[in-house]
Amino acid sequence: MRRVYLDNGSTSFPKAPGVGKTMMEFIEDVGCNVSRGGYNISYSLAERILNAREKLCELFNFDKVSNVIFTPNVTYSLNFLIAGLLKPGDHVLTTSMEHNAVARPIEEAKNRGIEVSIANCNDKGELDLCHLESLIQSNTKAVVIQHGSNVSGTLIAVEKVASICEKYDIFFILDAAQTAGVFPLDMKKMKIDGLAFTGHKGLLGPQGIGGFIIEDKLADSITPIIHGGTGSISDSLVMPDFLPDKFEPGTLNIPGILGLSTALDYILDKGIDNIRKIELRLTDIFLEGIKQRNDIKIIGLDTIEGRCPIVSLDFIYRDNAELAFKLDDEYGIMTRCGLHCAPMAHKTLGTFPKGTVRFAFGHFNTEEEIYYAIDSIQKILDS
Ligand code: ALA
Repeated sequence: MRRVYLDNGSTSFPKAPGVGKTMMEFIEDVGCNVSRGGYNISYSLAERILNAREKLCELFNFDKVSNVIFTPNVTYSLNFLIAGLLKPGDHVLTTSMEHNAVARPIEEAKNRGIEVSIANCNDKGELDLCHLESLIQSNTKAVVIQHGSNVSGTLIAVEKVASICEKYDIFFILDAAQTAGVFPLDMKKMKIDGLAFTGHKGLLGPQGIGGFIIEDKLADSITPIIHGGTGSISDSLVMPDFLPDKFEPGTLNIPGILGLSTALDYILDKGIDNIRKIELRLTDIFLEGIKQRNDIKIIGLDTIEGRCPIVSLDFIYRDNAELAFKLDDEYGIMTRCGLHCAPMAHKTLGTFPKGTVRFAFGHFNTEEEIYYAIDSIQKILDS
């Protein structure tokens, strides 16, 4: 049976050309550590890691390579940024559309005496900017918000949120899990103080590598939440206060960084505008093919305006889990069904606790695969 991978919101597949080869060559032929070995191959490895940071600076328009921090994934990045920043007595703002990667560290912060407010989003997942602004208090420290919903694909207007943050002198922390590598994210122009990314979705790298890019002012306000060896100022019992070491305790995921670096070469060469154009074209075909049916509800916006290439469907008269199972079992179409680690978003979109079947497209998908998915859905529903 053919296989059609439509779960790119969970992790992208295939990865960029050469990612696996780079990782294998490192493990088979190099294998050493970085900043912890006094020999040449360790020094040249340090240069390759630096190159990866430079490419991320290029992609997100940032000028200080030292401020690119590697972590295992976006969840770790958000924990560093949220738990490390917020102190008792602070107030933080987020939205009703967040993934648990934001929602859970913020919920946990409440136990430490941090006040939390949740800005409303409508049933399409669109943020109410006036409500967000009205929730700002004198002790508001940060707005932490996702760029694109992993459930409905709805995007937030990054520049508008940034302007509000700038007006009140609040840190702006962006969860770019679903958009990095596909939508333009310009740290300088968009005035983002902390941008959290993962390497294995739109950045087309392997699982287990992510990171964040951080402005100095925000970095100075954050206490490390994980402590350990950094290969620098080893005589001290406290973490270095300089970047990236302050937030990079322990041995890095070097195969992951090098794999991501190869993926970044591909993305920078292909251009995110070209990648996005393909993905949105596929999304458009899918939406148009599904729209006609009155037994399917498209969750969120029903056009490609204001969304990333993720579409959640509710099969009104059928069990969503059964639909997802049949798509895989009978047609080889891989989707993700359920609550997608984002119960708040499903409550906002009116799909809690039933959940949805999510189709998440990547630019390696073909138009033919999308027509096949539409046709397969119709056949299951009409059978
Ligand atoms: N957060 C990822 C998803 O939405 C794993 O599937």
